[in-house]
Amino acid sequence: MNPAQSPHGALSTTGRSPDVLLEGRNLSRVFGRKTDLVAQALIKAGLAQPPKMLRAVDRVDLTIKKGEVVGLVGESGCGKSTLGRVIAGIIDPTEGELFWQGCDIRSLSSAERRQIKLGVQMIFQNPFASLNPRMTIEDVVGEAPRIHGFIQRSGKSSVEYIDEQMRRAGLPPALKSRYAHELSGGQRQRIGIARALAVQPEVLVCDESVASLDVSIQAQIINLFMDLRQELQLTYLFISHDLSLVEHISDRVIIMYLGRVVEEAPVEEIFSHPNHPYTRALLAEIPRLETTKRRFTALKGELPSPMSPPPGCHFHPRCPHAFERCKLETPQLKEVAPNHVSACHLNDAGQGI
Ligand SMILES: Nc1ncnc2c1ncn2[C@@H]1O[C@H](COP(=O)(O)OP(=O)(O)OP(=O)(O)O)[C@@H](O)[C@H]1O
Ligand code: SF4
Ligand SMILES: [Mg+2]
Repeated sequence: MNPAQSPHGALSTTGRSPDVLLEGRNLSRVFGRKTDLVAQALIKAGLAQPPKMLRAVDRVDLTIKKGEVVGLVGESGCGKSTLGRVIAGIIDPTEGELFWQGCDIRSLSSAERRQIKLGVQMIFQNPFASLNPRMTIEDVVGEAPRIHGFIQRSGKSSVEYIDEQMRRAGLPPALKSRYAHELSGGQRQRIGIARALAVQPEVLVCDESVASLDVSIQAQIINLFMDLRQELQLTYLFISHDLSLVEHISDRVIIMYLGRVVEEAPVEEIFSHPNHPYTRALLAEIPRLETTKRRFTALKGELPSPMSPPPGCHFHPRCPHAFERCKLETPQLKEVAPNHVSACHLNDAGQGI
C-alpha cells in the first residue's frame, strides 16, 4: 500500500523519502517525580528542592521505513518502552518532533492524530493486564473497530470481521465467547494481536511481546509476526532484551544506553562489525554455538541510575576504553560505515578499538 492509500490518512509529504513511515527528530521524554501539595508548597517557599527530573529518552533521532523490522535493544531502564510509547502516540514527547509519512504530527487536527494513533499499535509483554476480565474475546477484539467506525455495532459483516482478525492471529473464532482468564498465555497474546489488527495498523510496536512466554510459544508468536508482516505489509519496532531474537528477525538494530541511541546499523553489520563498546559488551553476553571463545569483554559494573547519569559519555564508568574526554563530552552519532552510526569518541580519535 502506498502512503496515499493508507487508511490512517493520506498526508502530504515534505520531500522526504516516500518509504519513510515514521520519523522522530530529537525526541526526548522527561519524567518528574510526582509531588504532593505539601511538597509543592515547601518547594515554592524555597524550603525543599524541586524533584529531580529523569530523562528517559534523550534527544533520539529515529527513522522507520515501510515494511522494516527495527530492533530496539538495551538494558532495563534505558528508555526502550518510553520511546515505544512516544512512537505509538501513547505519551507525548517532552521535546522533539514526530513525523508520520513526512507530516509533522503537531500540525494535524485531533481527528487526524487519532487516525495516525490507530495506525501504530502496541503489543505488550503482559496482554492479560490490558484485557478486561469481564469482556468476552469477541468484545475485546471488536471494541476499537466499533468505536472507530471500522465496523457496525452488530450484524453479519461485523461478526465476520472479528472472526477474520481472530483467524489472522491464529485463534479459532469458536473461542470468541470465552473470557481472557480461560485462555493460555500464548492465546492471550494472540488476543492482544487480534485486537491490534482489528484497527488495521501499519506499524506494530512490540514491547517485549514474547518475553513472558515459554520458548516454544515464543517461536510461534514470532512466526505469526513474520507471517503478518508478509500478509499485511506490516512494519515493526521490536523492543527486546534478547539480542539473539533481535538478530533473527530485524532488518536494522538500534542500541540504547541510558536514554540515548549509541549505535544503529543493519542487522548483519551490527553483529559482524559492532563499533560501540557497549554494543560489543552486549554481544559478548550472547552464547554462540559456533565459537567457544568470546570476541569481546562482557559488561562490567552496575547500570548507573537514570536519575543522575554520568556526564559526558554515559557509558564511561563501565567502558574498558574510556579516556579523559569521555567524562567531559557527549559523543555524537557519526557514520562509521554506510548506514552504520555510532557515538564513541574513539571514532574521532581515529583509534578504533
Ligand atoms: N511514567 C513514568 N514516570 C516516571 N518515570 C518513568 C515513567 N515511565 C518510565 N520511567 C522511568 O524511565 C526510565 C526508562 O523506563 P523504560 O520503561 O522506558 O525503560 P525500558 O528500557 O523499557 O526498561 P525495561 O527493559 O525494564 O522494560 C526508567 O528509569 C523508568 O523508571
Ligand atoms: S566515548 Fe569513551 S567511554 Fe564512551 S564508549 Fe567511547 S571510549 Fe567508551
Ligand atoms: Mg520496557
